[in-house]
Amino acid sequence: MANKTVTLTDNTTGKSIELPVMQGSVGPEVIDIRSVYKELGMFTYDPGFASTAACSSDITYIDGDKGTLLYRGYPIEELAEHSSYLEASYLLWYGALPNAEQYAEFVDKVKRHTMIHEGLKDFYAGFHRDAHPMAIMVGIVGSLSAFYHDSLDVWDARHREISAYRVFAKLPTIAAWAYRYSQGQPFVYPRNDLEHSENFLHMMFAFPSEEYTVSPVAKRALDLILMLHADHEQNASTSTVRLAGSTLANPFAAISAGVAALWGPSHGGASEAVVNMLETIGTVDQIPKYIEKAQDKDDTFRLMGFGHRVYKNFDPRAKLIRTACYEVLEELKVEDPMFDLAMALEERALKDEYFIKRKLYPNVDFYSGVIFRALGIPKNMFTVVFTIGRSIGWLSQWNEMLQDDEFRIGRPRQRYTGPVSRPYVPIEKR
Ligand code: SDX
Repeated sequence: MANKTVTLTDNTTGKSIELPVMQGSVGPEVIDIRSVYKELGMFTYDPGFASTAACSSDITYIDGDKGTLLYRGYPIEELAEHSSYLEASYLLWYGALPNAEQYAEFVDKVKRHTMIHEGLKDFYAGFHRDAHPMAIMVGIVGSLSAFYHDSLDVWDARHREISAYRVFAKLPTIAAWAYRYSQGQPFVYPRNDLEHSENFLHMMFAFPSEEYTVSPVAKRALDLILMLHADHEQNASTSTVRLAGSTLANPFAAISAGVAALWGPSHGGASEAVVNMLETIGTVDQIPKYIEKAQDKDDTFRLMGFGHRVYKNFDPRAKLIRTACYEVLEELKVEDPMFDLAMALEERALKDEYFIKRKLYPNVDFYSGVIFRALGIPKNMFTVVFTIGRSIGWLSQWNEMLQDDEFRIGRPRQRYTGPVSRPYVPIEKR
């Protein structure tokens, strides 16, 4: 294709500039606006970055209109049916599905990094027992660079890989111990005879006093949840990791910034907010009242777990998690009226003009809480589990950024609307 361009014209000066249009392998073309400030002395303006591509990436593709999600080109539905969280993690980091030997080596390497420095155990004691586990996650993950500083040269691919294994493998241990600490229970160490998701559940719920076997249903359900949360192109927390990493901050610092960003109820904190919302709604007959509240601009209430910046159709992850809800509740013989309430709310909202017009559908966070409850995971640990799942996405995007020929420190500009050059007035004259 001839080099496509778009023309930008300043209608006050008549000056026009040609901006190159770049194609991806799929999805919207992008206008390369890097010359705009130099040529026209103007910035582009896009609060919330709804129309801005911040980078090029080979990792994850989302088509919000079709409800498509690809990890390195593989549809999430196929990975959910045939793959595992660890295999999908290998795919996200290395860019290809592993053969049997590569997978076995990957699993073994991850197992070798699940323990954390014994000195880190004392960090937990500094937190109040009722500290939110995400606060503990931000603190402990950020402190990892104080313990693992032998491989922090971010320009060294091997150092990046070692640090990635450390973050990826240690997060389940750090997370489970945050829960155990909040319960006043002893820490349970990771075990190399258990699979990744199984190990986390064992560290969460086992006791030194007796054998604890993780149910295959729980293991499989958690593995699916972690896979579905693994990556999602340039969402807020991934963009945070990229921005923090663009200063060449060490990976533990960059990832802890992502953990902090994920915590917000508009992002990864939504899964906890959904359950709080469903508890507030209480019963199906209250649904119409809350559907109305969600539309009232004077009311801060929003339907948590609904809507998405990119998906203007069903979030494919929400569909997969909703199906898994049925299976988990059925197989664990758990009756959870919250699942019925969630489905009734979904059905009611999707018939409502306000939600239809704005293309607001359930997102990944709408049903995940139902599964977490069935697995015995408490509300304040939902976003912690999201953190474990998303860690490989953050790490893979961080790693990609540092190999990008177009890599630069991220430094957005602004439209200044403040006062212009006011003279200082001594305090006695104010
Ligand atoms: C995640 O980016 C990702 O990929 C994120 C994520 C990932 O995997 O990383 O998918 C994970 O964060 C999922 C989203 C979880 N958050 C929630 O469920 C919180 C509830 N949702 C909303 O806060 C909202 O939908 C956002 C934050 C998700 C998206 O916000 P946008 O894109 O800025 O959309 P918007 O606020 O501009 O909404 C457009 C309209 C507005 O109404 P109008 O001004 O046009 O009248 O839709 C309304 C909004 O008021 N709206 C909602 C709503 N979400 C949007 N109204 C009621 N309830 C909602 N949930």
